[in-house]
Amino acid sequence: MNAPMPAALKMTAAAATAWPRADRTVAWSALQGHAEAHGHALDLRQLFADNPERARRLSVQAPEVWADLSRAHWDVATRRHLLDLARECGLEARRDALLRGDIVNATEGRAALHTALRAPKGSGAFGTHIGEQVHAELDRMLAFAESVRARAGGAQPGDIHDVVHIGIGGSDLGPQMVVAALDAWVHPELRLHFISNVDGQDLAALLPRLQAQHTLFVIASKTFTTQETLANARTARQWFCDQGGTDVARHFVGTTTQVQGAAAFGVTTTFGFWDWVGGRFSMWSAIGLPIALAIGEAAFRELLAGAHAMDGHFAQAPLEDNLPMWLGLLDVWQRNFMGYRSRCLAPYSQNLRRLPAYLQQLVMESNGKGVDVDGQPLPYATSDVLWGEPGTNGQHAFFQMLHQGSDVVPVEFVLVRQPTYRDAEAMSPALRASLAEQHRMLLANGLAQAQALMWGKACEDALGETAPTAAPDVPREVIARHRTFPGNRPSLTLLLDALTPRSLGALVALFEHRTFVSGAIWGINSFDQWGVELGKALCQDLLPRLDSGDVAGLDAATAQLLTRLRGA
Ligand code: F6P
Repeated sequence: MNAPMPAALKMTAAAATAWPRADRTVAWSALQGHAEAHGHALDLRQLFADNPERARRLSVQAPEVWADLSRAHWDVATRRHLLDLARECGLEARRDALLRGDIVNATEGRAALHTALRAPKGSGAFGTHIGEQVHAELDRMLAFAESVRARAGGAQPGDIHDVVHIGIGGSDLGPQMVVAALDAWVHPELRLHFISNVDGQDLAALLPRLQAQHTLFVIASKTFTTQETLANARTARQWFCDQGGTDVARHFVGTTTQVQGAAAFGVTTTFGFWDWVGGRFSMWSAIGLPIALAIGEAAFRELLAGAHAMDGHFAQAPLEDNLPMWLGLLDVWQRNFMGYRSRCLAPYSQNLRRLPAYLQQLVMESNGKGVDVDGQPLPYATSDVLWGEPGTNGQHAFFQMLHQGSDVVPVEFVLVRQPTYRDAEAMSPALRASLAEQHRMLLANGLAQAQALMWGKACEDALGETAPTAAPDVPREVIARHRTFPGNRPSLTLLLDALTPRSLGALVALFEHRTFVSGAIWGINSFDQWGVELGKALCQDLLPRLDSGDVAGLDAATAQLLTRLRGA
């Protein structure tokens, strides 16, 4: 769908270059000097001992999210230099340009107006034209979702029991993450399935569990050209027809900017969005249809409202109190000056199990860039590697490395004060009490890990604990050294009162804006993703060769593998 940008907002990338690149600022040099003189020597234990107010001072309340940033490796001077850097790089002006709808994605000539998708009706924030289009399409999509939900689980043909969402990347990760997170809100008569990988194993395993007349397929693709999605959609359609299904128009709907492409594929019921919605920012648009099907109109609107509240905070809170700003600046500090190459996201919430995967695309597809907006190679590092698993599972896997490994990896804890369970009303008091105890265990584990990372354990303390009989042949000192924790390992904590549509919306928007902030400081285009294209093009060349066996012009390694894969 093509909604013209308001003429007044058509500013180009030249605006970005009006600001100096980060490494050419005075603040950057100051930060380098500060890191060398102090940063690497900062000890969290000492910082807390020196300042009893540290925890309170370095906590920020944003809409729905409270953040404790006190366990990061920074001090007052660090933050002062970072604020200077933000000012020299024109961070607030760049934020305003983003939120105004300027062309911040210069290589594709587009704005990045995901915030317009969650602005309330009639706010007029992005010009009437955009607001009207957004709300017309939102209302249509939500009405459709409600009509499906009204008859979900029914016995009549066409009553839906299973929704199969087919999409990949930004057309998959958001809806999948949100539907898992908001399990307690999901319609009890609807099962949601997400198919993304071109590997047909996923679909082949699911199809025998479905009934064609009770299944709705949602084909989600911004471009409607993505190989994986079209392949899965073709297979799904084949299965539907094999089952005697005839009403493709009713059982297949599309969410796309390319309504004509979808129609050419045979999908005629479509919900649209616009090219100024980036794939990884699209769960608020029609791409969120499976979310709306799962949780319904009211809860979907709450999700949007939570994100909008965070947008307001990002737009209006002064730099010093602005949580996305601080998080983005912390990312720059940790990456470029402390030299941390990765960060671990540990949601202490099983329902947030897909959050690390979601954020991997958001952070690394946005900021995994090597040139600035002018195409000049960057002399400094950009995106770190984001990875993670929910706690407490991660504790029994990679936390060993976080506590005692040779690399320092900042950990981001997400804690949820109050759990929300599906069918909680139907539970016996004893069952509720048992679950409440488990939740306390979950929180205590999260608290303990952050504590252990910071405090560590001295060798003398470990020695005192080491029983002489533990391993009689190994000197106690040696065992104690293995049981020593260096401590002084950084972390931060994001706390939600409860995981609700509103708080989840705010949390996701927080990460979106934080990613923009670090990208703006780095002077890169956070909204394109050319790095995914080369592999796609090479795949198009190799696909027919797997059939023909033609290896002409291929490098020796690829030719050898291809031949083996053909079983030749
Ligand atoms: O992986 C590259 C990418 O272009 C993502 O940016 C996007 O979210 C995904 O592919 C899916 O694209 P589409 O929605 O067009 O199918």
